[in-house]
Amino acid sequence: MHTVLLIGTGRLAFHLGHALRRAKVELAGVAGRDAGKTEELAGSLGCAALRLTDALPRADLRMLAVSDDAIAPVAEGLPSDDTPIVHASGSKSLELLNGHAHRGVLWPIQSFSPGAPIDFSAVPVVVDASDAHTLALLQALAGRLSSTVVHLPFAKRQRLHLSAVITSNFPVFLLREAERLLVDHGIDPGLVHPLWTSSTEKALLNADQAVTGPARRGDVKTIEQQLRLLADEPELRRAYAALSELILHTYHPETRDQQDL
Ligand SMILES: NC(=O)c1ccc[n+]([C@@H]2O[C@H](COP(=O)([O-])OP(=O)(O)OC[C@H]3O[C@@H](n4cnc5c(N)ncnc54)[C@H](OP(=O)(O)O)[C@@H]3O)[C@@H](O)[C@H]2O)c1
Repeated sequence: MHTVLLIGTGRLAFHLGHALRRAKVELAGVAGRDAGKTEELAGSLGCAALRLTDALPRADLRMLAVSDDAIAPVAEGLPSDDTPIVHASGSKSLELLNGHAHRGVLWPIQSFSPGAPIDFSAVPVVVDASDAHTLALLQALAGRLSSTVVHLPFAKRQRLHLSAVITSNFPVFLLREAERLLVDHGIDPGLVHPLWTSSTEKALLNADQAVTGPARRGDVKTIEQQLRLLADEPELRRAYAALSELILHTYHPETRDQQDL
C-alpha cells in the first residue's frame, strides 16, 4: 500500500486524486496554494487539506499536479529527503526535479477537463524515473490505476506528447472553430456532430483511408473557394491553407512545386 501526497488542486489533481481513492491508495493529503480550492478537493477526496507553506506529512511518494512552469519552483520549495517526487507532465524532463534524490514522472495520456471523475483504468500511463527503486514504485502505483502502463525515456515521451497534442488538442480546437463558423451564421452546430463521431470511429480503424475532402481529392478550386469564405478570418484562413497544403502534398506530391495557397 502506497501513501501519496498530492500537490496541486487543478484538473489533473482532481481526476488523479479520485482515481487514487478508487484504487484504495491512501492519500496523505492535498497541498495547494489556494486554501479554498485545496479544502474543496481534499473534502471531496476525504483527506487532509494542507497549505504548501505547511510542514507537509510524510508519504511514500509526492505527486506534483501543478502547471508545467510551477514544477521546478514548487519542487525546490519541498524538503530534499529520500521521498520520491514525481511530476505529471508529458513534455518536461526529470531534470526539473534535480535536487531530489528520487525523481519520477507519471503522465496519464488523457485530456482532463472539469466534470465527473473519469474511468482511469482505460487511460494509458507513461512512467519514467531517475532510479530503479522509484521506477518500480511508479510502475506498481500506475498499475493500480490503469491497465496500460509503459516505461518510456524522455525523448520518446516528448514525441508521444507531441503526438497527443496533434491527436487531441488540434482536432478539438478545430471542432470549436467549425461550430463557431456555423453559430455565427445562425446554423445549428449539431449538424456536424454525426460527422465528427463517424470520422473519429473510421479514423481509429484506418486513419489514412479515413482522410477525405477537397485536399485529399486534389480539388484545388474548391479549396480556393473556401479560402475566400474565410477572408475575414485571417488566422483561421492561414490554418486552413496550411492544413490543406499538408494534405495536398501528402496525397498529391506533384503539387509540392506549385504556388502556396
Ligand atoms: N489537464 C490535462 O489534460 C493533463 C493531462 C496530463 C498531464 N497533465 C499535467 O498535469 C499537470 C497539471 O495540469 P492541470 O491540467 O491539472 O493544470 P491546472 O488545472 O491549470 O492546475 C494547475 C495547478 O497548479 C497550481 N499552480 C500553478 N502555479 C503554481 C505555483 N507557482 N505554485 C503552486 N501551485 C501552482 C494551480 O494552483 P491555483 O489553482 O492556485 O492557480 C493548480 O492547482 C501539468 O504538469 C500537466 O502537464 C495535465
